[in-house]
Amino acid sequence: MKILVINGPNLNMLGIREPELYGRTTYAVLCALIEDHAEKIGVEVELYQSNHEGDLVDKIQEAYGEVDGIVINPGAYTHTSVAILDALKAVSIPAVEVHISEVDKREGFRQISYVRLACIATITGHGIDGYLEAMELLRERYAG
Ligand code: DQA
Repeated sequence: MKILVINGPNLNMLGIREPELYGRTTYAVLCALIEDHAEKIGVEVELYQSNHEGDLVDKIQEAYGEVDGIVINPGAYTHTSVAILDALKAVSIPAVEVHISEVDKREGFRQISYVRLACIATITGHGIDGYLEAMELLRERYAG
C-alpha cells in the first residue's frame, strides 16, 4: 500500500511558526517521523509540501492510480479551497484530513473546511501524532 502525505502552505515552517499552537517539531523531523512510522506499519510513503494551491491540485491529480490513500493537511487552504476539494473528489482516493491544532475551537473562519467534504475522516488537535494516526486509519481501511 502507498500513502501520499500532503502538507499545504506554511507547514514547511513547523517548529518556527507559532510554536504554542503547532509545537516545536520541525517539518524535517515530521517527515522523518512519518517515514519511520510508515516502515513500522508496513506501508510505502511519499511526502509532499507546497505553498501553492495549484501545485497541491496537480499533486492530487498525479496521485490518481498511483496511491491508495492520502493524508492531507491543507493548512489555510482548508478553509478556502474548492479546487482542492474538487481534486480530492476527482481522484476518489480515500483521504484523511489532519490539523495539528484544534481548528474547530479556534476562529470562526477556521471552523469551516471545504476539504473535509471529500475526506473519510478528520483528525484535529492531536499535534503531529495526527499524521501517524491518519496513516494507521488508511492502512486499516485498506486491509479491510
Ligand atoms: C492548520 C490549521 C489551519 O487553520 C492553519 O491555517 C494552518 C495549520 C493545522 O494544522 O492546525 O496552516 O491546518
